[in-house]
Amino acid sequence: MHVLVVGGAGYIGSHMVKRLGAAGLETTTLDNLSSGWRNAVTFGEFIKGDLGDRDLLNDLFRSEKFDGVMHFAAHMEVLESVENPAKYYANNVSNTLTLLDAMRAHGVNRLVFSSSAAIFGEPRRPRIDENHARAPINPYGRTKLMVEEILRDYDAAYGLKSMRLRYFNAAGADPDGEIGESHEPETHLIPLVLRAASGRRGNITVFGEDYDTPDGTCIRDYIHVNDLCDAHLLALRALWNGDPSAAYNLGNGNGFSVREVIDAAEAVTGAGIPVAYGPRRKGDPARLVSDSTRARVELGWDPRHPELETIVSHAWQWELKTLAEQDLT
Ligand code: UFG
Repeated sequence: MHVLVVGGAGYIGSHMVKRLGAAGLETTTLDNLSSGWRNAVTFGEFIKGDLGDRDLLNDLFRSEKFDGVMHFAAHMEVLESVENPAKYYANNVSNTLTLLDAMRAHGVNRLVFSSSAAIFGEPRRPRIDENHARAPINPYGRTKLMVEEILRDYDAAYGLKSMRLRYFNAAGADPDGEIGESHEPETHLIPLVLRAASGRRGNITVFGEDYDTPDGTCIRDYIHVNDLCDAHLLALRALWNGDPSAAYNLGNGNGFSVREVIDAAEAVTGAGIPVAYGPRRKGDPARLVSDSTRARVELGWDPRHPELETIVSHAWQWELKTLAEQDLT
């Protein structure tokens, strides 16, 4: 089986490419390297190119036979999406349509799509399952929800089958230490906390300590990147087995506060992490925790690294490697 991985040089995509290779599948990665890294693609064929390049996609689908597509190529900064929505609608929605139309034109009709917990907006229940109301509160979340709706229509009209996977907080890194999370600029909590632990930055600023949570800081559901990859593989195999299109929420179902993440990072690294307290970040819900029962029951998904300490220690291994490489240059 041959899988086209769009956005396979990014954080989650690169872990997926490695996972597909380990599972004995053939991969082609298409990535424009706008936020990904060529050396993060450790397996299979690599093509530098843009998701919105219709001619390139048509040539690619003509020259290779794909059994399925995984689509990770999206912008994903909530704040940036508020300030520059055009960038988000152009890439996350319009370019995705170009991909879907190329798939249709060439008879490729199995897709696993990276969606997000951001489609739900402010949580109305302690745990968010697939039936939770979808009411995104920022353009990023709206782009993900729009594509989900497009995919439902494309299934009904054209028979394009898809799995829509809503990630909660992707975190951690390849346990082998070969690849990891390398956003530039980095905005996510765990890598920033670890940069403060390694000395690559001075401190970590906690965005708000007056939330209605036990310690006043925001609660999130951190899910290991490789567990997300396992869910993708299960989802693609389900499509290959003829299962209908579906949507799944992917998280551990456990919430950890920003303060608890910092404490876990201190325990894992043995470093004292300097902490500053700042105002709330715009658009942050107090608590986002998944109910992933459906993925467990229907896909047989069983996260292998649910403990926060494991997630943080794999990310720490990657931070130490990045630091050592920086010191060499
Ligand atoms: N945080 C800090 N300080 C920082 C960075 C983050 O206190 O320097 C806090 C945030 O306020 C938030 C928590 O740490 O409470 C986690 O923040 P992240 O930026 O790591 O992740 P988000 O929960 O904001 O975002 C994630 C994904 C998005 C997705 C969103 C869904 O990264 O792509 O979940 O709501 F849209």
